[in-house]
Amino acid sequence: MPETSIDVFAKARDNERVALLRAAREADIVPYFRTVEGPARPVVEMEGAARIMLGSNNYLGLTGDERVIQGARDALERYGTGLTGSRLLNGTTALHLELEEEIADWQGTEDAIVFTTGHQANVGTLGTILGPTDTVVADSGDHASILDGCLLSRAKLRAFRHNRMDKLERMLERAANDGGGVLVVVDGVFSMEGDVPPLPEICDLCERFGARLMVDEAHGAGVLGVRGAGAAEHFGVEDRVDLRMGTFSKSLASCGGFVAGPADVIEFLRVQSRAFLFTASAVPAADGATASSSAASRSCATATSSPRSCPFWSRTTGRPGCCGRPSTTPACSSTQPCTRPSRRAARCCARASWRRTTRPRSSVRSTPSPR
Ligand SMILES: Cc1ncc(COP(=O)(O)O)c(C=O)c1O
Repeated sequence: MPETSIDVFAKARDNERVALLRAAREADIVPYFRTVEGPARPVVEMEGAARIMLGSNNYLGLTGDERVIQGARDALERYGTGLTGSRLLNGTTALHLELEEEIADWQGTEDAIVFTTGHQANVGTLGTILGPTDTVVADSGDHASILDGCLLSRAKLRAFRHNRMDKLERMLERAANDGGGVLVVVDGVFSMEGDVPPLPEICDLCERFGARLMVDEAHGAGVLGVRGAGAAEHFGVEDRVDLRMGTFSKSLASCGGFVAGPADVIEFLRVQSRAFLFTASAVPAADGATASSSAASRSCATATSSPRSCPFWSRTTGRPGCCGRPSTTPACSSTQPCTRPSRRAARCCARASWRRTTRPRSSVRSTPSPR
């Protein structure tokens, strides 16, 4: 009987990052995996001390909002602690249907679908609508979950240098000769760089080359645009973006994800997306919190509530213009997305693996550092 001489676990023992973590632990300087001991607020209790939270996605401060907490409690009381099954079988509640309707209305699309996490929304959408004969054109700063979805689909991946429209144009020229369908995917607000893509130019290029466009609004939803619908709304290109993805784990103070777009594509995802079909539905408390926070954030965005009730309300415009980061002060005075990098340390692993996978060595060397 032939026996392999290679142990698949060997990489766990020889891994560079594991060695680094061990050394940092020995020196007691590990910045990661610190234990939070209270609610997600601008100042948190962490390992027995009060710490200013600069790494959170709690952009609207809604994790502590009484309406959101009550929404979670109501759902817990009504549906229990878990649905113990997938959306397809026993995991769909009235909350999901209401949320999907509400999101489609908010995003101005025909339909929307709710996933258990934002990561699954990207993987489950890209891995389903793209196939091996298609080409996906992605910004090198796109989130790791976008890359994961692209890899899963086995579509041809053409990455372009972050926010460089000349590079996008070149990739679209090449993609046109690949022979399949073409999808461009960008973040609406880049999670590491903190900047936004020039969406009107990207729409122009997609239209010129007949490519579809998907925007990941994880960091833009809730904070950009008058309705808080995200970067597409902020740039006035909502009707030119084909698919809009978002998460509930940031402005909406919960956990989960969505994709909004044309009814036929969303219906296709409902019956075909493996990340939707083969995972358990979110716990009801998460859906209840999301439903309440989406209502709370919309009331914030439509200026019907007091500007001071929203921690990101712009004092200069009287609207939620936002720097997209949790504030320790009562209100944000910026009307533009923040250009300073945020959560860099926490995300470096995801970003590094994206760069390694998408870019040839030469292009990595010639890329000017954004920082
Ligand atoms: C741009 C972007 N897309 C998708 C995700 C995944 O969302 P979630 O954490 O809700 O699964 C994140 C999370 O950090 C993100 O920053």
